[in-house]
Amino acid sequence: MTPQSRFTLEDRLPADYFSNALHADVTRGLGGTPRTLPPKWFYDKRGSDLFEQITRLPEYYPTRAEQEILTRRAPEIAALTRASTLVELGSGSSRKTRLLLDALTAGGSLVRYAPLDVSASALEEAGEAIRRDYPGLEVTATVADFETDLALSDEPGPRLLAFLGSTIGNFDAAQRQTFYRTLSLALSSDDVLLLGADLVKDPEVLVRAYDDSQGVTAEFNKNVLYVLNRELGADFDPEAFDHVAVWNADEERIEMRLRAKVAQTVKVPDLDLTVEFAAGEDLRTELSCKFRRETLTRELYEGGFTVRDWWTDPASRFALLLAVPN
Ligand code: SAH
Ligand code: AVI
Repeated sequence: MTPQSRFTLEDRLPADYFSNALHADVTRGLGGTPRTLPPKWFYDKRGSDLFEQITRLPEYYPTRAEQEILTRRAPEIAALTRASTLVELGSGSSRKTRLLLDALTAGGSLVRYAPLDVSASALEEAGEAIRRDYPGLEVTATVADFETDLALSDEPGPRLLAFLGSTIGNFDAAQRQTFYRTLSLALSSDDVLLLGADLVKDPEVLVRAYDDSQGVTAEFNKNVLYVLNRELGADFDPEAFDHVAVWNADEERIEMRLRAKVAQTVKVPDLDLTVEFAAGEDLRTELSCKFRRETLTRELYEGGFTVRDWWTDPASRFALLLAVPN
């Protein structure tokens, strides 16, 4: 980076991130009942690209629904927050974020955009494009894990902290509480949280969104097995698993799973681990919780946030909310 550059990328993942966090997650997840893996390991370069393809699928409505809300509400959000810094967690391609950047730069308050993601490739691509398209804006990107390192520090305030795409739904209820608490303690009284949340709806619509006809979501799901093969020397055969999306009505969440087509043994040499899958056994790779206004408002309050504004798209599929620390 040259000193006059307006785009910086700081890698704050610990040097031993793969040897520690991935090892711990896989040992715990593959050894547990049911077998699980945390979704953050989907997002290598290929996984981030596949997610971008998902956002353009006809069945995957959340991105378009959230975009509709942002198109309508971004000027209001800019006027309400007068944010100097837009921090974004799990920013990915930052495509929808441009609506916020446009409104905040038009309003004249924005100085800095600070995207944070575990995917360095997504940050490099998005950060470079935003630097090009928004001259005068400081873009300070951080590669970090938002579960363990929120990396908020000396940004000019007030800060608008965006967590879009319903990535909050990839946490279970206990993880969400920990996340809200950590975040509310990290924010100042003039900072604001902008949260995107997918809403409970017809299970058929939900299942189709996670089991598309072109098989892109299936490839995204299986990508985690390629990551484990590459990073841990595992010998998963991705074709020996079926992609499954199940609506769990009790928990109101989609569960993405990989179902063993036949009984099989998988070796993970780096962990000294051998895993026996029975035919039909599931490995749960992602939760995608769906929300209702009352319960989401309540859990946010318990986590340290008061919801001030709540907007949905015209079809009420998705919600975007502004919340402030209690
Ligand atoms: N916000 C974008 C992208 C959502 S996809 C949108 O709305 O379209 C989820 C993003 O979160 C991915 O870019 C992924 O790399 C990132 N992510 C997932 N788990 C993460 C973690 N623990 N820490 C940081 N980023 C994470
Ligand atoms: C990133 N996250 C909110 C997406 C979701 O909808 O849960 C990831 C995804 N999984 C399958 N399709 C999209």
